[in-house]
Amino acid sequence: MTYSLFHTNKVIAGVDSILQIADVVKSFDVTNVVIITDQGVFNAGLINEPKALLEKAGINVYIINDTPPEPPVDKVNDIYKTATQFNAQMIIGIGGGSAMDTAKLVAILLNNNVLLRDVVDGKSKFKNRGIPTLMIPTTSGTGSEATQNSIVLVPERELKVGIVDEKMLPNCVILDPKMTIGLPKHITANTGIDALCHAVECYISKKCSPFTEMFALKAIELIAKSIRIAYNDGQNLQARENMLLGSYLGGASIATSSTVAVHALSYPLGVNIIFLMVYLMQFYYLMS
Ligand SMILES: NC(=O)c1ccc[n+]([C@@H]2O[C@H](COP(=O)([O-])OP(=O)(O)OC[C@H]3O[C@@H](n4cnc5c(N)ncnc54)[C@H](O)[C@@H]3O)[C@@H](O)[C@H]2O)c1
Repeated sequence: MTYSLFHTNKVIAGVDSILQIADVVKSFDVTNVVIITDQGVFNAGLINEPKALLEKAGINVYIINDTPPEPPVDKVNDIYKTATQFNAQMIIGIGGGSAMDTAKLVAILLNNNVLLRDVVDGKSKFKNRGIPTLMIPTTSGTGSEATQNSIVLVPERELKVGIVDEKMLPNCVILDPKMTIGLPKHITANTGIDALCHAVECYISKKCSPFTEMFALKAIELIAKSIRIAYNDGQNLQARENMLLGSYLGGASIATSSTVAVHALSYPLGVNIIFLMVYLMQFYYLMS
């Protein structure tokens, strides 16, 4: 079996790593950036500091803050159309998987002459990489900042479609635990379990490679020791940092392997992944 490693070019992690945002953006020699986020993240005030730091460095910042949860394909297309008005040279996704998946798609649509609907339906492919991207996660769950995937909802088919293309791998990532300290308890728990499932599923997948083992085992270790602390004490920066890194490494596991039936069944069955995880792990154990 051959195996590959797709990875972002630069990851800056740790408390206050957000302070390096202007240096990251300036390294791409751009002056116009679009931040894609959602209402919850915007209202939590998480865009204020990145925006101020960028503007202080002379960069024009435009904000699109209406990404919905589990973004439907037509809404992503609307956000792309809005972004075309700003002469964007770089896209910054700030938020959970919904905002980051949308940001990755907008960046690649801006550099390709295709319709998103056609890509979702498998009629077209992206030829070019997108414009540069920087991802700043504010949940610790999807690991979208480390993957070549974006997931969109196709409501009329009651289906979530994963668009997978290595040209969508983000250029840069900032993992600052301060961006996650206000995450409510129930989202901390749900997104943390999502990250744990990514790592476990990728590790037991037939596609697991030595690269996956490295990422997944570290992700499991970090999440297992920190998820309860982050849930009970959201201000605990060490636990938040471990969760954010664990989630990133869960995403890197996806990028080198794939999730298995737990994630594949959770959406069509409308069941929380943790229940599927418990039963399917027993099933896989009996079958092994
Ligand atoms: N690309 C991938 O590899 C990948 C993998 C798994 C899931 N996904 C997708 O990611 C999406 C789910 O992402 P998610 O679970 O991160 O949730 P989300 O992005 O939908 O965010 C959930 C909620 O948390 C709020 N929020 C986020 N950060 C916050 C913060 N720091 N403080 C306060 N509120 C905050 C948001 O406003 C939102 O209301 C789905 O569409 C899913 O299909 C993508």
